[in-house]
Amino acid sequence: MPAGEWTTAEHVHRYLGRAGECPRRAEGESVLLEHVPRDARRILDLGTGDGRLLALLQIDHPRMLGVGLDFSELMLAAARERLADDERIRLVEHDLADPLPAIGRFDAVVSSMAIHHLEHERKRSLYGEVLDLLEPGGVFANFEPVASATHRLHLAFFAAIDEPLEHEDPSDRLLDVETQLAWLRECGFDDVDCYWKWLEMALLVGVKPAA
Ligand SMILES: C[S@@+](CC[C@H](N)C(=O)[O-])C[C@H]1O[C@@H](n2cnc3c(N)ncnc32)[C@H](O)[C@@H]1O
Repeated sequence: MPAGEWTTAEHVHRYLGRAGECPRRAEGESVLLEHVPRDARRILDLGTGDGRLLALLQIDHPRMLGVGLDFSELMLAAARERLADDERIRLVEHDLADPLPAIGRFDAVVSSMAIHHLEHERKRSLYGEVLDLLEPGGVFANFEPVASATHRLHLAFFAAIDEPLEHEDPSDRLLDVETQLAWLRECGFDDVDCYWKWLEMALLVGVKPAA
């Protein structure tokens, strides 16, 4: 099934109603937030959804200029509501399957639970585009569901989150951590590593080399 399910109210509201319940999510997000430099001013959120990550970033970056991209009108409407039409936040409707639009350069690019919906080759090319959008020294932090090493571990993840396997999101395109770290390094990111991981949830970070 294509990721078009994110344009249906049922799917969007089901996700938003349960987004806070995902075990250990707050822990992974907090590590992401720690790795966004305090002086980052321009921050891009890929697949922003209802702007959850932008809102969390605003706590430590009250003056930040944020841009949130998403292809779901329903999600962007929820983001507008959450962010109360904050003039320092720009929301852009964009399908991440297509090359990133010209929206300027950023001190940090973040993403939470979105890039795993893209086909693998697009994940790879997107990482290169993210590097191009970052200022030297800028940080890319991607908090993502990733593929388990074995089917047994996949089942263990679903047991841990207390979800039947039938609830697996058909728009997921999970990929293992190692492949993604290798791609980030090949693109030219420095300090690439998995900075946090719990079963199928991981935080992948890379830094654009300083000029
Ligand atoms: C699981 S939600 C995560 C939303 C938000 N980042 C969060 O942390 O709550 C996945 C988001 O990715 C967006 N998404 C999925 N595929 C996309 C694509 N091809 N282009 C743009 N956004 C996409 C969906 O619309 C949805 O908002």
